[in-house]
Amino acid sequence: MPKEQQYRCVYCDRNTIQVETDRFVCAQCDSIFPVIDGVPVLTRRAPHFVVAQARELAGVHGKWKQLHGELTQLGGIDKTPMLSERASRMADGMAANIALMEAQCQAIWAYAKTEAVADDTIAWATVQNGYPFDELLPYFYQDWYGTKPFAAVLQNILPAVETFCDDRQALAVFGAGACGLLYELSGYFEKSVGVDLALPGLIMAKHLMEGERFSLCLEKADWADIALSPSANTGSDTRFMAANVMDTPFPDESLSVVVTQYLIDIVPNAAWFVHEIRRILKPGGVWINFSKPFAWPSDHAVLGPRRLPEIIPILHEHGFEELQLKMSRFNVLSTEDIYPGGERFDQEVHIFAAKKADDNMQVICPAIKGRIRKKTTEAWNQVPKLVSARQIAVVEKKIFKTGLQETVPGIQVMDSFIPMERAFLSAISILFECIDGHRTLRQLKGHMDKQGVAMPERDFLDLIYCLNVEYYLLKFDDKP
Ligand SMILES: C[S@@+](CC[C@H](N)C(=O)[O-])C[C@H]1O[C@@H](n2cnc3c(N)ncnc32)[C@H](O)[C@@H]1O
Repeated sequence: MPKEQQYRCVYCDRNTIQVETDRFVCAQCDSIFPVIDGVPVLTRRAPHFVVAQARELAGVHGKWKQLHGELTQLGGIDKTPMLSERASRMADGMAANIALMEAQCQAIWAYAKTEAVADDTIAWATVQNGYPFDELLPYFYQDWYGTKPFAAVLQNILPAVETFCDDRQALAVFGAGACGLLYELSGYFEKSVGVDLALPGLIMAKHLMEGERFSLCLEKADWADIALSPSANTGSDTRFMAANVMDTPFPDESLSVVVTQYLIDIVPNAAWFVHEIRRILKPGGVWINFSKPFAWPSDHAVLGPRRLPEIIPILHEHGFEELQLKMSRFNVLSTEDIYPGGERFDQEVHIFAAKKADDNMQVICPAIKGRIRKKTTEAWNQVPKLVSARQIAVVEKKIFKTGLQETVPGIQVMDSFIPMERAFLSAISILFECIDGHRTLRQLKGHMDKQGVAMPERDFLDLIYCLNVEYYLLKFDDKP
């Protein structure tokens, strides 16, 4: 169990989450937050989130199992020995990764099996914001195999920590992924925490930092076997937390430093993300960012991501003073050092450090979360609007294979397809059809009830929260 720590509840907004034997509970609203293999899950619908995470793992597990079966057969019948040899290397790699997943993620599966918690579509949508197990593996290679790209990250971030971060009490690394950066920075701080929505990645990183050795097979390096070595214990207090960076459980002004790496470029609303960082930093606290150039939600889409100097006004408007801004190039997830055919993605990155400015400063507050947090009349009187630059499509994907036709219902949010059951999709369709910028949440809920897609009030508000905070498909006016 993690040591006691005061956290804020993402339901009732009070700093009242308390540790019980194997879980956290909010003393104010009784919401339950499970702890899985020592990692607290502090999202909304947290028990459902863990069950949905188990389903996500089972999907990757099933995909690998099926491919493994197909490749094993292929290896036996193919007449080209080199191709057969490659097929069996792939099959072996998949088998090794399946074994790795089974060993590392036991606690997630055990929770899903033993707890009487329903599988849940809203929590499933939250899980989809985190990276799936197979996509996390290259990050473990990059962070824990002594790679050049990881050395380049450290060369950029460590000097910023040494120069600008006088207060070394509490660090959070957001979107921590494989947590290599968390490990390297933890030696500089009294307390450090890695925050991510990919629970399997946090658990694996925790195991590595506890001294466990394991290896993974890397598809992008022709399924080479990569032995990851645990690093020496830094002796510092390092923790892990499954949470959404758009609405974290950190109390206001509780952190000295927040580090974000390759994250602001993928969150749905960069402005709210920056606002959240400012909320949790202490006065004078420092934010260090390393990412691809990112787009600002209020900019015209045709302008694309901001250029480096164009970030300065954003920082000022959101209550930060720039300390350093740098542009560099970064060879992300490159496997060329271990495999001649390895890919290179050499891309522009923006690295900056900024200090939380004078506390009295007027900051543009997106004022979102509080309004749909509580089941109050005020929350129900809010009027949602669609975000025109972000699109959702309800789709029935028809997949044609020889002798087989499969239909996969789901939603398409920008570039991502999220499979979902039909009943839920019709609820989403009805909701989106009647959002007109005039109807309140109460009226929308009433309309859905009449159309035969009733859901409990808490589920409805969680759905609105998910569409607003986690996917930014809905918004509310700045002033309620
Ligand atoms: C591009 S990867 C970067 C990982 C790591 N920072 C690195 O650069 O090696 C993005 C990471 O952010 C996590 N992530 C994405 N959206 C998130 C969210 N809303 N809240 C928490 N984590 C998120 C993903 O699970 C993934 O681990």
